[in-house]
Amino acid sequence: MSYMFEFHNPVKIIFGRASSEKIPSLIGLLKGEHSSVAIFTGKTATRRLVERMNLRENLEQKGFIPHLFSNIEPNPSSDTINKAASWLKDISADIIVSVGGGSVIDAAKAASLVATNGGSAWDYVKKPEDEGPIKQPSREIIPIIAVPTTSGTGSEVTPYSVVTNTELELKRPISTPYIYPKYAIVDPDLCNMPRKLTGMTGLDALGHAIESFFSLRATPLSELFAMKAIALILRWLPEAVSSPTPESRSNMALASNLAGLAISQTGTIVTHALSY
Ligand SMILES: [Fe+2]
Repeated sequence: MSYMFEFHNPVKIIFGRASSEKIPSLIGLLKGEHSSVAIFTGKTATRRLVERMNLRENLEQKGFIPHLFSNIEPNPSSDTINKAASWLKDISADIIVSVGGGSVIDAAKAASLVATNGGSAWDYVKKPEDEGPIKQPSREIIPIIAVPTTSGTGSEVTPYSVVTNTELELKRPISTPYIYPKYAIVDPDLCNMPRKLTGMTGLDALGHAIESFFSLRATPLSELFAMKAIALILRWLPEAVSSPTPESRSNMALASNLAGLAISQTGTIVTHALSY
C-alpha cells in the first residue's frame, strides 16, 4: 500500500501532574500584550477548583488582570456563547484560560471565534446546504489555554466545538482550524471526577478512539493515537472507576488526550453523529 496523507495539529501539549501550576508563566511567554486574562469555568465544581488553585491571585502577582466567566452550562447554548463573546469584548480579553470539561472548553473556543469574527455561534455550525451558508472565519481568535478537568472529550486538542440551539432543540458542531487552542495543559490531578463521570467520560474517549480508527479519514498517524488510546482505556478505565489512583488518572488523562488527537484528524463517525 502506498500512503498519501496530511497531519497537522498546532496545539502545544503540556502534560503531567502539577503542570497547571505553569499557567501564569506560560501567559507571560506568549507574544504580545496579555494583561487582560479571561478565565472560563463551569458554574460550580470547576469554579471552586479555580479558587483552590489560587489562579486569580497567581495571575495578579504576575501583573495580569484576571476576569472570571463561570456561567457556562453543560452543552452550552448559542445564547450563552454569544453572551460570553460580548463579555470577552467588554473586558478586552488578550488571552483565555478555560478550565473545565468539554462544555467549558468548547464554549471558550466558540466564544473566542464569535468575539473576533462577529455574528452568532450558530452561524458557524455545520448544517445542511438548504439551511444556508456556514459562516467562515477570517481572523485569528483570542488565544486559548485549555485545561481539561475530565478525561473524555479531548476538546483541548481538537478544532471542534459543539453548540446547542435551545429554540430549535438541536446540537451541532463548529469545525474549523481557527478554534484550535494554543496550549493544552493536561494535569491529571485536576481530572479528579466522581465515579459515574469517570466512567461516562472514559467511554466517550473510547468511542472517539474506536470511531477514529474506523474512519475513512484515518491515517497511519491517527491510527497510532487511536490504538494507544484504546489500549490505555481498556487497561486503566476499570481501575479509574473502582479505585482511582494518581496512576490510573494519569493514564486516562493521556488516553483522552490521544483520542482527541486522533479525532482532530479524522472527526467522529456514526455514533457521535447520532448524538448531535
Ligand atoms: Fe464525544
